[in-house]
Amino acid sequence: MDVKKLVAQMTLEEKAGLCSGLDFWHTKPVERLGVPACMVSDGPHGLRKQDEQADHLGINESIKAVCFPAACATAASFDKALITRMGEAIGDSCQHERLSVVLGPAVNIKRSPLCGRNFEYFSEDPYLAGKMAAAFIHGVQSRNVGTSIKHFAANSQEHRRMSSSSDADERTLREIYFPAFETAVKEEQPWTVMCSYNRINGVFASENKWLLTDVLRDEWGFEGYVMSDWGATADRVKGLIAGLDLEMPSSHGVNDKRIFEAVQNGSLDEAVVDQACERILNIVYRYTENARPDTPWDLEEQHRLAGKIAEQCVVLLKNEENLLPLDKKEKVAFIGGFAEKPRFQGGGSSHINCAKITGALEAAEGLPYVYEKGFSATDDQADEALIARAVQAAKEARVAVIFAGLPDSFESEGYDRRHMRLPECQNQLIEAVSAANENTVVVLHNGSPVEMPWIGRVKAVLEAYLGGENVGSAVIRVLYGDVNPSGHLAETFPVKLSDNPSYLYYGGEGNRTEYREGIFVGYRYYDKKEMPVLFPFGHGLSYTSFEYSDLCLSADSIRDDEELTVTVTVKNTGSRFGRAVAQLYVRDVESSQLKPVRELKGFEKVGLMPGESKKIAFTLDKRSFACWNEELHDWYAESGEYVIEIGESSRDLRVCAKVNLQSTASFPRRYDENSIIMDIAADERAMAALRPLMEAGSALFHPEENDQTSDAAKEAITDEMNLAMMNYMPLRGLLSFSDGITWELIEDIVRKMNGGK
Ligand code: BGC
Repeated sequence: MDVKKLVAQMTLEEKAGLCSGLDFWHTKPVERLGVPACMVSDGPHGLRKQDEQADHLGINESIKAVCFPAACATAASFDKALITRMGEAIGDSCQHERLSVVLGPAVNIKRSPLCGRNFEYFSEDPYLAGKMAAAFIHGVQSRNVGTSIKHFAANSQEHRRMSSSSDADERTLREIYFPAFETAVKEEQPWTVMCSYNRINGVFASENKWLLTDVLRDEWGFEGYVMSDWGATADRVKGLIAGLDLEMPSSHGVNDKRIFEAVQNGSLDEAVVDQACERILNIVYRYTENARPDTPWDLEEQHRLAGKIAEQCVVLLKNEENLLPLDKKEKVAFIGGFAEKPRFQGGGSSHINCAKITGALEAAEGLPYVYEKGFSATDDQADEALIARAVQAAKEARVAVIFAGLPDSFESEGYDRRHMRLPECQNQLIEAVSAANENTVVVLHNGSPVEMPWIGRVKAVLEAYLGGENVGSAVIRVLYGDVNPSGHLAETFPVKLSDNPSYLYYGGEGNRTEYREGIFVGYRYYDKKEMPVLFPFGHGLSYTSFEYSDLCLSADSIRDDEELTVTVTVKNTGSRFGRAVAQLYVRDVESSQLKPVRELKGFEKVGLMPGESKKIAFTLDKRSFACWNEELHDWYAESGEYVIEIGESSRDLRVCAKVNLQSTASFPRRYDENSIIMDIAADERAMAALRPLMEAGSALFHPEENDQTSDAAKEAITDEMNLAMMNYMPLRGLLSFSDGITWELIEDIVRKMNGGK
């Protein structure tokens, strides 16, 4: 379709109209020209296609669909191919249901365990979130269906989500809150991007030109259309100019009229409207020209796939005395309402109307278990009678498995959690059961970390997250060893909420949330502070063990425009098949910029038979070593030594090697009379201008040689003090501390330092 030509035939009214939705879920058609309406739908881990009553909070019924594990779980798989497979399945269902775009993936960074929507987001780590998002987009879009990566950007809380301003410095945005979007856009070109509700440093994302045009399009090369989150549009005309192409859902003609009038009164260039229309129509036709409503959608087959995916996401957090896997012949007490009805998805716009749900009890059919409800899964009311029955059942079994987790009301889109605890009634039950049976296992269904005051009293903990509609089968297969757990945490579990770096500022004051912890989010903070955590980022146990060896680098030394290949051999040293997640972290030995101790820059999941070894390769480039440099306004990989560390978690690093990196960056440095000696000395050209003066020797540089310096003072002057005094001295300071220096001389040096003659 020649979209340019089509737009040229449209009236201004038609074009203004195309810039907002027809209704909750459709783009507008232009019947006169045969332009079809296209449907979009939530997302991200299954379809929430509403044929009848529409809403954005998951209130009204949607069609029956398959609920795959939520992103909190899929991120823990650390398995890109698996997430691509899930994307393909969702893409197929979109084709079957005539959906042009699925609204996801959601990639916002987990700044605090309190974010109500963490269950829908991947990670506290931008690299992992970006790679997972890219894998998902790759899968969906391979079916000629678009994705809408969301919510762009810095939307890490639900509190006041439609008005609050996420205030962060550019380095923090570039290093933490943007890269998941950047990776996905650069690697996979999502067909659409959804801008967030919030403001960023005071400007609504929906009208933020820096965000939507300068960074997203001009720097990263995004080619699709930007849509607003549902109701995120503030000033429509400003938004259009900033790069917001499509307003969703609609403003019932109000904003269309504003666009129309703005063009007519000359405050909006019609070319801007044309451009938005072209971008929207490009996607409309990319879908319609490839629509395949005859694509089969087998709900039963996808139910099985959802279970297979969930199996790879379960994280074995603790397994004392190898209590797990369980023996299929031994008597087990399953306790907790989530064993019967698992909590497998979160609340809000991602809520799916499942055709089928398999809980653990159903999946355990035929096994010798007893079941006790133990607690109410909907609220926080301890029921002594239920606890007593659970304790009795635990006493009579060899192992007690408690299915605990967060009830729906404890975490949801739309509001944040108030604390990081499980309901008290569940903590009470776990205490009571673990006192009655020393072989207690806790299975958790939650979208975000919880405090575990009972961790020392239970032998095993299995984090099942919100594992989708078939999570019950996955959990049973892992508990009994049909599947060897291979999930690893995509987030840190702090000991307590107040350990979290955003604790003091999270939620903000009024409409302002300051991201004061800056780049120190998640493990970047806990490691820098050398803090104990409950479970570190990347942690996950297995029923087998892995050994890492032969870490090799393709070079000892590279320039920042060269790539480095890293290889390592992983061996399964246990007696059963297992999947290892090799995580590569980069640590800068010494840096002039404030940096985290280490950062994830690569990961690979590899399946190994007992005794089997495989060699894994990683490619690192400048970005693997770089941080955002405000002075360069670019990525900067400083010259020096870096350590490549590979292991099973951020705190279980098994092998390491050093590489030397040479920066090719040149700083556009300017000097003035306030520049200090230390900074000047670091720059050879500037130093050349200052050196003659220093070599001429001045009392300032050598106070101990000065006749006027008292003996006592001479003794008190240490080399360090001398050096510090000189280092921190501004050029103009020479006037005060040294004879014979004129202002003209200072000016002359400044001019030469800046390249003048
Ligand atoms: C959510 C989006 C969602 C949209 C449509 C909004 O409230 O933030 O993630 O895609 O509704 O349901």
